[in-house]
Amino acid sequence: MRELDPERLPVHLAIIMDGNGRWAQQRMLKRIVGHQRGAETVNMVVEHAWRLGIQYLTLFAFSSENWSRPAIEVRALMSLLKKYIRKETARMMRKNIRYNVIGNRSDLPVDVNETLDEAIKQTSVNTGMTLTLALSYGGRQELSMAARRLACDVRDGKITPDDISVENFGTYLDTGGLPDPDFLIRTSGEMRISNFLLWQLAYTELYFTETNWPDFTINEFNKALIDFQSRERRFGKTSDQISPRNKPSNA
Ligand code: IPE
Ligand code: IPE
Ligand code: MG
Repeated sequence: MRELDPERLPVHLAIIMDGNGRWAQQRMLKRIVGHQRGAETVNMVVEHAWRLGIQYLTLFAFSSENWSRPAIEVRALMSLLKKYIRKETARMMRKNIRYNVIGNRSDLPVDVNETLDEAIKQTSVNTGMTLTLALSYGGRQELSMAARRLACDVRDGKITPDDISVENFGTYLDTGGLPDPDFLIRTSGEMRISNFLLWQLAYTELYFTETNWPDFTINEFNKALIDFQSRERRFGKTSDQISPRNKPSNA
């Protein structure tokens, strides 16, 4: 197997952490036990990404659609999230990691929002990795909110419809200020995007593994990153434009 090249890592890595429930159910455990074990995988992934020097890590932790799960699971997830943030903020400070949240925060319980506010404020001085949590996040919801903000700016005369471009539309999204993800990993064998970062994933390299999130290991993580390094990102160009071979100069 190839070695990981530390010079060619994704600048922004996004992960759809999926399969906690199935992991638990296969072991006759409650789904929440799967989420608890999943939180341990989060720690491993944050630690390893940080060690490698990845600048942006974005984790899909709770989708807009996940609100339709049984209330008991939603409550348990919110409580786990709060506990996780409380417990890990000191470690984020030691590692110079900055928290960021995307998604509809107004849907989250008040105590979760207070915990998030505190963690975001405390880690805002950090300049190392940006750890973005997608919470109550849906790509379509984000796009429609962006359209609303844009419409308000047009109404208020701040911009005209002719000013709208691919570049400035991005600034209306929750991810304004973050580069687009270079690499997306989804665990648990599902090969779909599930309403994650619809706009931002336009040219992201996608990677799917059968492994459920609680079983995702550092070796698998490295394997995924090595796979990323074997991809040729063409962005619509030809292969030769990307890595010119020994071709006649008029080719
Ligand atoms: C991912 O695991 C965590 C969340 C969506 C919150 P799931 O809970 O979706 O696990 P499966 O897909 O049911 O196995
Ligand atoms: C996507 O997983 C959301 C998160 C990982 C938080 P889901 O388990 O909710 O996705 P679907 O329902 O299988 O598409
Ligand atoms: Mg799932």
